[in-house]
Amino acid sequence: MADVMEKLVSLCKRKGFVFQSSEIYGGLNGCWDYGPLGVELLRNIKELWWRAMTSREDIEGLDSSILMHPRVWEASGHVENFTDPLVDCRQCKARFREDLLTDDQRTAGQCPVCGKREVLTEPRAFNLMFKTFVGPVADDSARVFLRPETAQGIFVNFLNVQTAMRQKLPFGIAQVGKAFRNEINTRNFLFRTREFEQMEMQFFVMPGTDAEWFAYWRQERWDWFRQIGLPEKRLSWHEHLGDELAHYARAAFDVQYEFPFGPGEIEGIHNRGNFDLSQHEKVSGKALRYFDEQSRAKVLPCVVETSIGASRTLMACLAEAYHEEQVKGENRVVMRFHPRVAPIKAAVLPLVKRDGMPDIARQIAATLRRRYAVFYDEGGAIGRRYRRMDEVGTPFCITVDSQTLSDDTVTVRERDSMAQERVAAEGLGAFLEGRMDAWQHPDEAAA
Ligand code: GAP
Repeated sequence: MADVMEKLVSLCKRKGFVFQSSEIYGGLNGCWDYGPLGVELLRNIKELWWRAMTSREDIEGLDSSILMHPRVWEASGHVENFTDPLVDCRQCKARFREDLLTDDQRTAGQCPVCGKREVLTEPRAFNLMFKTFVGPVADDSARVFLRPETAQGIFVNFLNVQTAMRQKLPFGIAQVGKAFRNEINTRNFLFRTREFEQMEMQFFVMPGTDAEWFAYWRQERWDWFRQIGLPEKRLSWHEHLGDELAHYARAAFDVQYEFPFGPGEIEGIHNRGNFDLSQHEKVSGKALRYFDEQSRAKVLPCVVETSIGASRTLMACLAEAYHEEQVKGENRVVMRFHPRVAPIKAAVLPLVKRDGMPDIARQIAATLRRRYAVFYDEGGAIGRRYRRMDEVGTPFCITVDSQTLSDDTVTVRERDSMAQERVAAEGLGAFLEGRMDAWQHPDEAAA
């Protein structure tokens, strides 16, 4: 299956989804650039998440800054606890996470890179936060961190948002933004990177109702993954128990996706109790209490957090979409994205470059572009143009042909089934909307 990852990485570069960061300088480990199609794909995923969250009356949006007061990270426990166990190989000088070694490697002190035994140092705690300085003097008093999660911006703004929006418990705050972690080993393409985007939502609830809301949000998030085209058969839960539980969590479940290299976490759902708000109260000296009108008492809410990686979700969508099949003796590569996720929604293609077909096709493309990302292509045989669109996952190809000239209809070819039907050009918008809503994952549609 590693083979699929290689094909995917190569397709991503070739078709403009993802490029290595600073490629002409040899790249920067753990950093990636999203090309024209990748940025559309990423924006669609973020938009679907944002809509799912903020179209509710009980969730507000926020965009807090990446640099925050350094004491935030003392209060949150990141200065003390946000570490991975780092080991060095004395032989080949490679560095890696001790917790990712196999039991045999750990017992033998064996380096996973050079294979030598009894060469590993004792593990030491390595803090994953990137450090930088505010202002011109680079000393400890000016030291700040690039945020390793977006959540803390939400906690410190809890009362600001609640008061400004006159929200009552329970309510949530949602945020999408960059996070940075100085990972010891980056790996698996976009899976573990040093710069990535998170989509986090903290749901503030009355103490004692957190377990109930935790169950509710687990179900909601599971359903969302299905709505963006990840089938249930490749999703699973992983419960954190004992030592695995983060310092802030009362309970935690990951949603895992079955990547070509095995199951990997794409979202963490955590019952954080009142850990964060009580820590920020303690360290800042400012009360973060909610006034409950019913009991006339000030309460410290509990928090249920849903924390998802946008880039990991994008990678899950890419892996899920990649499909090869034989069509009339030829290999067809098709990215079977959910149409709402697909970077380009439709391609408009004049069958030939004459008889006014290009003008009509451009007109149709311009109309559809008001709502969607649309691609216009008049170059090459129609079959080749279809294949190019299959490879980037465009769900609909609209062809203007000689019949269009007489009755204003076009053919719409659907990517997965390759079936074509005639549709009035005027009704294309409504037709595509209906098809997008009705889309089913091809494996589920066949079942
Ligand atoms: N606020 C809680 C929190 O940050 P987390 O489990 O450490 O929890 C949440 O991270 C999500 O962020 C993960 O499920 C993953 O999707 C994404 N993520 C974490 N580290 C990442 C990395 N190095 N590269 C890409 N995505 C990452």
